[in-house]
Amino acid sequence: VTAEKGGFEHFMLKEIHEQPKAYRDTMRGRIDESGKKVVLPELKLTPEQIKGISKIQIVACGTAYHAGLVGRHAIESLVRIPVETDVASEYRYRSPIVTKDTLVIVVSQSGETADTLAALREAQSHGAHVLAITNVVGSSIARDADDVIVTLAGPEIAVASTKAYTSQLIAFYLLALYLAEVRGTQTPEEVARIIAAMQALPEQLESMLEKPDAIKAYAEQISKHEHLFFIGRGLDYAVAQEGSLKLKEISYIHSEAYAAGELKHGTLALIEEGIPVIALATQEAVLEKTVSNIKEVSARGADIMAITHEEHVASLLKSVNQAFAIPKTLPLLTPALSVVPLQLLSYYASLARGNDVDKPRNLAKSVTVE
Ligand code: AGP
Repeated sequence: VTAEKGGFEHFMLKEIHEQPKAYRDTMRGRIDESGKKVVLPELKLTPEQIKGISKIQIVACGTAYHAGLVGRHAIESLVRIPVETDVASEYRYRSPIVTKDTLVIVVSQSGETADTLAALREAQSHGAHVLAITNVVGSSIARDADDVIVTLAGPEIAVASTKAYTSQLIAFYLLALYLAEVRGTQTPEEVARIIAAMQALPEQLESMLEKPDAIKAYAEQISKHEHLFFIGRGLDYAVAQEGSLKLKEISYIHSEAYAAGELKHGTLALIEEGIPVIALATQEAVLEKTVSNIKEVSARGADIMAITHEEHVASLLKSVNQAFAIPKTLPLLTPALSVVPLQLLSYYASLARGNDVDKPRNLAKSVTVE
């Protein structure tokens, strides 16, 4: 069993460490030799169809849904097509407006999630083209979808999804760049700049995985708490939601993720002396606003840990108790790095609490009931 785990104590830790490889494998063959263009030869979707898309809906569950939140941001910012995101168990019951010009993207690691499969069928029944992003080639979702982008993360065994999520992010970035090329919404220079930054991600991630000690120490600290909060804006909020789910799922610590600006509309009442708050502060465009929200919780005595870039550490330390710096990439690509400390945090918190990290209570790896 240890051999299966590649020398790691748990599948989850092994899978966290496999992410640089998963990034490389998911990008391989999908960037042309010049390194300046995305090619997705597997797509049946024609350039004419792509030009005719009026709306995109992204549908998935759990962590795959959280990848979809980042996917929405990537597509809307690069391609300027309106995107809706739905959790699959809600999608069918809100009588979604789906037409032949709607592209529906379903995201599923296993390709067997019942609600996601049902959403796929619902979308197809309205004539929509359904593109699946999945990690399992022969899965039900892969078979039924009109198009498939396979994430090449390799088998994911731990119930807590890590490398599947980050590979889904890579798939979304590639897809958004491809759609942007076809629709001419980004200059070739801009596309090349984003591709170059994507190609640097695996090494940046490797450098992060080399030094887990600060996160491990922080995980031991929070493992003694029963409640905590994640806050962030924009893509930081999307990552906060994933961090919160991961932590709940395996450490059983109750946590909530909030759009930082939303705190004062209710949740701020829960902030009291010593409560841990994890603040994601990586998105330059909203950094000042996030900092003012950090100050709001700091004034109420919260014990704040910030995830940010090196250049902001010194100034943030005026309002936060600790700061963890991640390598710098483009704001759009930052989730592919900023989620990693949160994965490690959940892992070490679960370990500190003596939980079964790979098989958390009450949960199954693949949810095949609705
Ligand atoms: C992730 O850590 C969870 N175990 C869960 O949210 C999972 O992402 C969800 O059940 C969707 O699974 P799928 O990607 O296989 O469809």
